[in-house]
Amino acid sequence: MATTSNTHLLLKIPLSHHHNHQPHRHNRRHLLLPTTPHKPISITCSATQLQDRAAAASSITDRVFNFAAGPAVLPENVLLKAQSELLNWHGSGMSVMEMSHRGKEFTSIIEKAEADLRALLTIPDDYAVNQDPHARYLHICANETIYGVEFKDYPVPKNKDGILVADMSSNFCSKPVDVSKFGVVYAGAQKNVGPSGVTIVIIRKDLIGKAQDITPVMLDYKIHAENKSLYNTPPCFGIYMCGLVFEDLLDQGGLVEVEKKNQAKAKILYDAIDESNGFYRCPVEKSVRSLMNVPFTLEKSELEAEFIKEAAKEKMVALKGHRSVGGMRASIYNAMPLAGVEKLVAFMKDFQVRHA
Ligand SMILES: Cc1ncc(COP(=O)(O)O)c(C=O)c1O
Repeated sequence: MATTSNTHLLLKIPLSHHHNHQPHRHNRRHLLLPTTPHKPISITCSATQLQDRAAAASSITDRVFNFAAGPAVLPENVLLKAQSELLNWHGSGMSVMEMSHRGKEFTSIIEKAEADLRALLTIPDDYAVNQDPHARYLHICANETIYGVEFKDYPVPKNKDGILVADMSSNFCSKPVDVSKFGVVYAGAQKNVGPSGVTIVIIRKDLIGKAQDITPVMLDYKIHAENKSLYNTPPCFGIYMCGLVFEDLLDQGGLVEVEKKNQAKAKILYDAIDESNGFYRCPVEKSVRSLMNVPFTLEKSELEAEFIKEAAKEKMVALKGHRSVGGMRASIYNAMPLAGVEKLVAFMKDFQVRHA
């Protein structure tokens, strides 16, 4: 982490902790990342390598279109890159899961991940923030994952010194965002940028250092900022995966380009719903429809189970709506390819013809 910048990359912070922080006079900001469990890997002998490659190739063609709300789909090229680097990361002779989190290899991974995220979101290095003692926070959920509702413009706190705090878990890095409008942005990585267990927190530095006396050290951002997200052992492999995703998003041309793709994907799906003469319905008002989570119902609700079952047979999985609202929901995060949404739309049209 660059000490001259106004953000830090920190690890293992629960999503709900930010509200304890009071503003404070240094005009800086921090950025945090966190936790993932490691799956055991088994390694067979090298004689089977060619066979393993063939198996890997077929497992790519066997992949489903995963419409889950999170943990969610990851970019195939990122998974393949992680696979190719798994046994021996950049000549280190070991995997990222095995290396010291304080060693030079992992330091380069976490620093590059942060630098790429800074570039993606154009996180400003400095801006003035004037706070008064009565400052309050306004907390929003930038994209509500269950109902599929997304802020298109962000609200400004009524109190001119108010701090805007956003949970961006389900639309993080799906489009450009003016980070300078927020005191705190946080996001679980498991929807758009990596595996579950990593939480990214971008926090203006003047909001750090005001934890209550009773706050456990692990919940104090100051500790994590001071220790560059390495106060204790972080979820190294999860951070590495996020880093690969950030690199991939930059390679795609950054978030301006990523947003265009997301808009195109969402448009064909919402159009298919809206043009179905009521066979499919989206309950969300058009101006606030999410680009990430598309909920819809069937006019003949008794067909919903059949819809989900048939879609799964066609290798489109996790289309069931959240248990609290029912219906269907297609989560179409960054890593969902256009082909997945096109296939879903074609299936929906065919299903309608067969069941109208
Ligand atoms: C907007 C939003 N915030 C946070 C989360 C993650 O919450 P938790 O880590 O408590 O499962 C989710 C989804 O899982 C979400 O959609």
